[in-house]
Amino acid sequence: MSNYHIKHLEEYYQVYRKSVRNPENFWDEIAEEHFVWRKKWDRVLDWDFSKPEIKWFQGAKLNITENCIDRHLHIRGDKTAILFEPNNPDEPARHITYLELKERVCKMANVLKDKGINKGDRVVIYLPMIPELAVALLACARIGAVHSVVFAGFSSTAVATRVNDCGAKMVITSDGSYRGKKTIDLKGIVDDAMDACPDVKNVLVVKRTNADIFMKEGRDEWLAPLMLAAKEDCLPEIMDAEDPLFILYTSGSTGKPKGMVHTTAGYMVYTAYTFKNVFQYRENDIYWCTADIGWITGHSYIVYGPLANGATTVMFEGVPSYPDFGRFWDVVQKHKVTQFYTAPTAIRALAKEHLDFVNSHDLSSLKVLGTVGEPINEEAWHWYNDHVGDKKCPIVDTWWQTETGGILISPIPFSTPTKPTYATLPLPGIQPALMDEHGTEITGNQVDGRLCIKFPWPSMARTIWGDHQRYKETYFTAFKDKYFTGDGALRDEVGYYRITGRVDDVIIVSGHNLGTAPIEDAINEHPAVAESAIVGFPHDIKGNALYGYVMLKETGESRDRDNLKKEINQMITEHIGPIAKLEKIQFVSALPKTRSGKIMRRILRKIASKDTSNLGDTSTLLNPEVVSEIIKEVL
Ligand code: PRX
Repeated sequence: MSNYHIKHLEEYYQVYRKSVRNPENFWDEIAEEHFVWRKKWDRVLDWDFSKPEIKWFQGAKLNITENCIDRHLHIRGDKTAILFEPNNPDEPARHITYLELKERVCKMANVLKDKGINKGDRVVIYLPMIPELAVALLACARIGAVHSVVFAGFSSTAVATRVNDCGAKMVITSDGSYRGKKTIDLKGIVDDAMDACPDVKNVLVVKRTNADIFMKEGRDEWLAPLMLAAKEDCLPEIMDAEDPLFILYTSGSTGKPKGMVHTTAGYMVYTAYTFKNVFQYRENDIYWCTADIGWITGHSYIVYGPLANGATTVMFEGVPSYPDFGRFWDVVQKHKVTQFYTAPTAIRALAKEHLDFVNSHDLSSLKVLGTVGEPINEEAWHWYNDHVGDKKCPIVDTWWQTETGGILISPIPFSTPTKPTYATLPLPGIQPALMDEHGTEITGNQVDGRLCIKFPWPSMARTIWGDHQRYKETYFTAFKDKYFTGDGALRDEVGYYRITGRVDDVIIVSGHNLGTAPIEDAINEHPAVAESAIVGFPHDIKGNALYGYVMLKETGESRDRDNLKKEINQMITEHIGPIAKLEKIQFVSALPKTRSGKIMRRILRKIASKDTSNLGDTSTLLNPEVVSEIIKEVL
């Protein structure tokens, strides 16, 4: 049991050493003791990073919903599984017990089956943060369908791309969503997307806003009456350990979004294990992660990890600023939240507001605070520590990725001494390596390099949907026999890791992972635009913001620049979503390029950050004169 709940630093080191010395034994024990299996595995691990092929718990049979729901019923049937806090604070919170969750999941699973969804079929879920979203994931998992959640802030084009990429037959959405004061027409977005998705047979619609929406005959149906008529029982489909559980899209530095495929057993074991340790979750705690289930954080640490531990997990529909900037603390006080997990960008935004928003609330229930998604700066860390945690709650700065499925580097509260801006130590089973540009591992401490992981862990993504070659090229070719994260990191004198940021063309804006290529593609579709380049630059609240260098066609030169800027951001909103809008747009006569025609983003990044003192040698560029011209007009 001690493997499962680490209680002090010495124990962490012992467990860590054991996990590295014999990873298979380590995970074998955890999987055996803490989960229900229909059949045990024949082998713990098979792997070959050169193919790459990774298989955990091969031969095992299970259903993840039995682990997340059924097995809790005899002891926790009446315990709240999901605590739903609506957008509007005057709307009562809803407590959904494990027993109720089972009924809802089974009913929705039966609805899906009635509509012809079978094991292995893909279902796209485009829902706001309402209980039906969690239920929809679990209903798919109940019958072995593969869910692919699309964040409900993405545009219709983004929905269509993902639906078509994974070949979904069904979409589950709602009539609309609430976000603070705004109401968003989700169904309208789905309708537009469906024009480009001929293979979708059914759209199931959850009623949330009561908006008057269009329902297409033969395709669209309200979910509620179907649920009402459905049976309360649905036997779980018995899955193989390596059957896909879900696909979740993430941006790459080039090309279309990558559908990361996560499989069943390893994902379950790792998210449950890390949830328990990283949040030091105890029975009767009230755990709240403010992420959206549209991102991996919500999959692993709102739904699967907490429920596999029989936890109470809060689902929040709203935003931190509505009805005022005290909303997070209001919810913490109201539900006596014990663990609170959010993004640095939210902390920075709230830290700018008056302290009364925090101080007027009783936050004494809190035990552990967490952050995720981007580096946290010292100032935000201290504000969080002093004002939210009252210097009593350890902050877990959790580093991980959509691809990793679960947290890889993080302090363990009350065991690992924290250090501002450091994600600190690898969790048991995780073997990080820092690499230099020649592909050699940098050993020792007080070093920095490119962050790789040199041994598999159970929840790593197994492939990119429909493109295994891209999976290999993106993650396993830069450094031989290692998984390359795309991040840079440094290791301090005691072996603590600090993530310094992306070393590729992915930009993290407000904790959202944005690739430059799709944004540039969207801009370039504007009839007045010839070419564009997007880079990130530091931003007080968002961490990074987007800076666009745009070269116009001759025909566009006469256009009003302010109107053009608006239209360009409108193109981005339509193609991707408002999260990818540009903070600044600079019109340029050309983009600086190498002689082989590659845009010199390194230089553009420096200019956007107003760091023009050391641009390096620009004389080898195809068009060095452009650089000085751009600097002169920098915004
Ligand atoms: O650059 C790292 C950053 O977010 C990237 C992964 O983004 P995504 O797949 O959207 O997943 C986010 C939620 C897990 C990483 O490559 N990142 C994530 N957590 C941290 C971080 N950067 C610094 N510190 C973190 N704690």
